Amino acid sequence: MTPEELKRARRLLSSGDADPDRALSETLALHASTRERLPHMDAFYDALLQPLHAHTLLDLACGLNPIYLGSRGYAVRGLDISGGCVDLVNDWARARGWDVSAECRDLLCEPPLPKADAALAMKLLPVLEQQEKGAAMKLMERVPAPVIIVTFPMKTLGGRGVGMEKHYSEWFESAARGRFDVLRREALFGELCYIVRRSEG
Ligand SMILES: C[S@@+](CC[C@H](N)C(=O)[O-])C[C@H]1O[C@@H](n2cnc3c(N)ncnc32)[C@H](O)[C@@H]1O
Repeated sequence: MTPEELKRARRLLSSGDADPDRALSETLALHASTRERLPHMDAFYDALLQPLHAHTLLDLACGLNPIYLGSRGYAVRGLDISGGCVDLVNDWARARGWDVSAECRDLLCEPPLPKADAALAMKLLPVLEQQEKGAAMKLMERVPAPVIIVTFPMKTLGGRGVGMEKHYSEWFESAARGRFDVLRREALFGELCYIVRRSEG
């Protein structure tokens, strides 16, 4: 997010009392990943989270996700390398009294990870893998939550589908084999979603 977008987000927060729903969706639209989900955000998260009955969520590379999840009543601990996103999440949480907090962390540096009922690694693993080969599954192994929601984009930001679903599913399923059990795999609103659990034994 640019400094201008962050300034705009702060203005939206302070003007939000008049129309809180509009302030929320305009703020979420400032980050590309949450913007893409906006038209179907409730259905997308309900499909993923409701069957898990999770209350506390660890959101890895959270972007602005915790602002949405806080508005839905979840307790969220977010980590992201972007200080701007982290500050914005914390400003919203403080102003709205949500049990949500975020910290500025580089996930390549193996920061301590808080325990949660479920963890989210949304559109993250390819980003980490690009920064350091092997980093994605190294992080997955450290996650202190019984289930992890992992998602991958199925289209580029420009809207092109270029075999991404096949590419990411083959990579992830092969990397996870023997380490994680896939409880569910589903393409939801243009995002390839997995729910996985650490394999026993
Ligand atoms: C594609 S966005 C996904 C954001 C969010 N998970 C979502 O799906 O809405 C990738 C996020 O990863 C964060 N990120 C990139 N490299 C990171 C790293 N090494 N450690 C922590 N966060 C990182 C970026 O700041 C960005 O918010």
